[in-house]
Amino acid sequence: MLLFLCATLFAGPVLSSPLRRPYGNHTHLPPLRFTSNGTFQLSIFEDLHFGENAWDPWGPQQDINSVKVMEQVLDAEKRTQLVVLNGDLITGENAYFDNATVKIDQIVGPMLDRGLTWASTYGNHDSQYNLSRHDILRREHQWPNARTQQMVHGPESGVSNYYLPVYPSDGGSEPCLLLWFFDSRGGVYYQQKNASGAHIGQPDWVDQSVVDWFHETNQKLTRKHRRSIPSLAFVHIPTNASLTAQMQVGIDENRQPGINDDYPDLAQQAQGWCEDGRNDPDCVYGSQDVPFMQALTTIPGVMAVFSGHDHGDTWCYKWDSLLPGMNVKGNGLNLCFGQHTGYGGYGNWIRGSRQVLVTEAMLAHHEVETWIRLESGDAVGRVSLNATYNQDSYPKTPNTKSSCPDCDYTIITNMPGTKQ
Ligand SMILES: *[C@@H]1O[C@H](CO)[C@@H](O)[C@H](O)[C@H]1NC(C)=O
Ligand SMILES: *[C@@H]1O[C@H](CO)[C@@H](O)[C@H](O)[C@H]1NC(C)=O
Ligand SMILES: *[C@@H]1O[C@H](CO)[C@@H](O)[C@H](O)[C@H]1NC(C)=O
Ligand SMILES: *[C@@H]1O[C@H](CO)[C@@H](O)[C@H](O)[C@H]1NC(C)=O
Ligand SMILES: *[C@@H]1O[C@H](CO)[C@@H](O)[C@H](O)[C@H]1NC(C)=O
Ligand SMILES: *[C@@H]1O[C@H](CO)[C@@H](O)[C@H](O)[C@H]1NC(C)=O
Ligand SMILES: *[C@@H]1O[C@H](CO)[C@@H](O)[C@H](O)[C@H]1NC(C)=O
Repeated sequence: MLLFLCATLFAGPVLSSPLRRPYGNHTHLPPLRFTSNGTFQLSIFEDLHFGENAWDPWGPQQDINSVKVMEQVLDAEKRTQLVVLNGDLITGENAYFDNATVKIDQIVGPMLDRGLTWASTYGNHDSQYNLSRHDILRREHQWPNARTQQMVHGPESGVSNYYLPVYPSDGGSEPCLLLWFFDSRGGVYYQQKNASGAHIGQPDWVDQSVVDWFHETNQKLTRKHRRSIPSLAFVHIPTNASLTAQMQVGIDENRQPGINDDYPDLAQQAQGWCEDGRNDPDCVYGSQDVPFMQALTTIPGVMAVFSGHDHGDTWCYKWDSLLPGMNVKGNGLNLCFGQHTGYGGYGNWIRGSRQVLVTEAMLAHHEVETWIRLESGDAVGRVSLNATYNQDSYPKTPNTKSSCPDCDYTIITNMPGTKQ
């Protein structure tokens, strides 16, 4: 594996950045900081779905297309300071046991070339029979630019649970923004089968151990810095609040601009699980994400949570009330989808990446600016997540498809060769 890595690098054409080296130390990265202009921008790549159909020309071509999307976005958004890989990096159903994580090296290439760092959450496709999220983290850590961590080590916690502090432009040593990353798990357990030889499903919500860690860590940070620090959160699978916003309230094309094609019934955490804990596709929702929703809405200062998973939904909704049928009350938290970035995975909506911009001035009002940069170069759906979001009217987002024939297979789950 190491030989392979070196060979790829030295044969590769681009070694432009001093950070693009195979053996750095991700534990020695400079902290994230607002620029001298008082801005902090990040770009979200979600649902990259690398590694589909390695056995035919179609699959590897999709990965080349996905790299191009990332490069186009990063070249258009020159001010981005951090890339968030928000889950489903690899389609693990198509992974081979011997080289399941090799695709990570291709995924991180655009960031290495530009001297950018990244931080991941893992998705349901990142845990499959041949693919383990622990191994993905190890593979990421072979690169110096990885900020992904595991801070919770319970047996059912998942892996990508951690936070990153962002420091102010004036050089100060007190963080002024926190980025929380949560692991919504899902998929199936690595190398495990039950007595009838079937893969074993992993719960698809943020585990209670992680919710506890979120509360405790937030309390520690609040005590240490003597104030609650505004934050943004990232998790692959959205919570039931997003489904309720879509189905009970309704997404308005001007008030919550974005594509709303995973409709009806976007897929949320605890989908396919029953309230009694059984994994059963007939159970539409087991409500195990309630503690996580309670934490997100009661921990002060969480301005927005960004999800992927539903490739056909790209809107933001301000959850600011008790929505019909729910027992957790929204406090103004913005629930945002990004844009499907990868050419793998279902759907042919135009590929792109949600951009998130925070300024030190906006932080005082807990405001966030966000838009989607598309592979076409256009920027769409630019909104201000401020106090009047949900009421302000914006231009509607065009529902564009990628102009590429043959790029809209749904996910492939049978190996090898069959396409669904
Ligand atoms: C990275 O730094 C840490 C902390 O100093 C050290 O323990 C670790 O061995 C280093 N790893 C590498 C690959 O140099
Ligand atoms: C600050 O803003 C100016 C004007 O928009 C821009 O030219 C410059 O690159 C920015 N500097 C940083 C560090 O972002
Ligand atoms: C796992 O990998 C092995 C070895 O490469 C391969 O033969 C098998 O089809 C894969 N199985 C699954 C379920 O992905
Ligand atoms: C991984 O292994 C499989 C089976 O040996 C092979 O077909 C595939 O090309 C390999 N993938 C990569 C990216 O090296
Ligand atoms: C194994 O899992 C499959 C699919 O979930 C299920 O139908 C089957 O009953 C399970 N077998 C055992 C022995 O638990
Ligand atoms: C989950 O969402 C559905 C659809 O909006 C709603 O009927 C249900 O009451 C919600 N449950 C919880 C616990 O949030
Ligand atoms: C929120 O942003 C929109 C768009 O920039 C603006 O029209 C509106 O006045 C802002 N609301 C507040 C409370 O600042």
